[in-house]
Amino acid sequence: RTAAEFVVVANRLPVDLERSADGTQRWTQSPGGLVSALEPFLRSRRGAWVGWPGVPDVEVDEFVDEGLILHPVRLTSDEVRDYYEGFSNATLWPLYHDVVARPVFDRGWWESYVRVNQRFAEASAQVAGQGATVWVQDYQLQLVPSILRELRPDLRIGFFLHIPFPPVELFMQLPWRAEIVRGLIGADLVGFHRPGGAQNFLWLARQLIGLEPSRGAVGVRSRPGMVQVGDRIVRVGSFPISIDAPGLDNVARSKHVADRAAQVRAELGNPKTILLGVDRLDYTKGIDLRLQALHELLHEGRISAEDVTFVQLATPSRERVEHYQRMRSDIEQMVGRINGEFARVGHPVVHYLHQSVNRTELAAFFSAADVMVVTPLRDGMNLVCKEYVACRHDLGGALVLSEFAGAAAELSSAFLVNPHDLDGVKNALEAAITLDPAEGRRRMRALRRQVLTHDVDRWARSFLEALGTEPTS
Ligand code: G6P
Repeated sequence: RTAAEFVVVANRLPVDLERSADGTQRWTQSPGGLVSALEPFLRSRRGAWVGWPGVPDVEVDEFVDEGLILHPVRLTSDEVRDYYEGFSNATLWPLYHDVVARPVFDRGWWESYVRVNQRFAEASAQVAGQGATVWVQDYQLQLVPSILRELRPDLRIGFFLHIPFPPVELFMQLPWRAEIVRGLIGADLVGFHRPGGAQNFLWLARQLIGLEPSRGAVGVRSRPGMVQVGDRIVRVGSFPISIDAPGLDNVARSKHVADRAAQVRAELGNPKTILLGVDRLDYTKGIDLRLQALHELLHEGRISAEDVTFVQLATPSRERVEHYQRMRSDIEQMVGRINGEFARVGHPVVHYLHQSVNRTELAAFFSAADVMVVTPLRDGMNLVCKEYVACRHDLGGALVLSEFAGAAAELSSAFLVNPHDLDGVKNALEAAITLDPAEGRRRMRALRRQVLTHDVDRWARSFLEALGTEPTS
């Protein structure tokens, strides 16, 4: 059996099994920020990754992919419906994102969540060697730390939440709030993106299970808070995640990407200004709001369809969850409406792709875009804005960024906007479109200084150092 020293446990494997109608199968890269951040880090470590291969009812044996052990966990179609689409993505996801959509509280879904968390904990216990470090990821697996600790007290267990941790008033709505907190404190270290998330969690641990802050251990660099659980100390802190910035910077500097960026611009008809949005098609991302802002700017004549082209790349996501279906049709209607009113034949104003796009192609779009528009209503971090910055070695381009993305705390030289304030978004778009180039370079230089010096490797090391498994550097 495998005995890995370092194990990542996440709902998804870094690769997704795709089955086409003719029965052929192939592995593709999984969607989302979690995988794009963690994969390069874990590949350099040659650990093991425990996760779901992305399709129901398939039994796949453990296999090795370029030195990384992949250990698939099987989910039945009922579990995909109840644990994944239900409790994870129609209860926790909206609840943790400020109830942007109304969370559904369903007891059957909760039971499925408990069972599947048990299965992930058992799989991790099987893969981890004696005294190994197991790093559990994200909201789908919040019960794993405690279950795993029961099964394997010898392990070092870390937990990181990739989405926002909500204000206590919202978390308190959850009928299973105490169970979730109890699940998380099975870890030795619980990490969040923002200090506010860590504070909320500490408050809840006190209120819901009476844990007291500990004045015990010291010497942790990021100085997380601590709670005492029996004779164990659980550390709680904030660790803002990032991207493989040097890697992406390199990709963006390649001739291939530069040529493709020029080609993209030409294919779009060489507009004066290219605006770009890149998101999973998710209702938290504020895609509808940015389209509305664009529509009004065109309508008021503040920008013209001759000069400005908007490209929205929307990665398909959670397509069987009702809210996502509704959002998709709203967005597609808005795109149709804007093009209907303002496009000319052969020259749409909005180019909308509901497809996933690979890393080099994405780098080319980032390099071509004059204004990157990132307007989530709430986002744990948002890595797309950091990816854009990492691609702009030419110091060109401007970033319009929602205050409610975790990244806003680091990227203060962006045009920060409140996405609920439509006039504010419109003003920021206009300012970014008409930005003086020297001022633009000043802003981009400041953004790049932050992103290139705070990459994903530094994030992972600081977390693992606080967990006590990484030598302090
Ligand atoms: C976000 C979540 C991840 C998730 C990703 C893609 O980044 O934090 O946990 O994997 O979205 O969503 P999906 O449901 O397709 O895995």
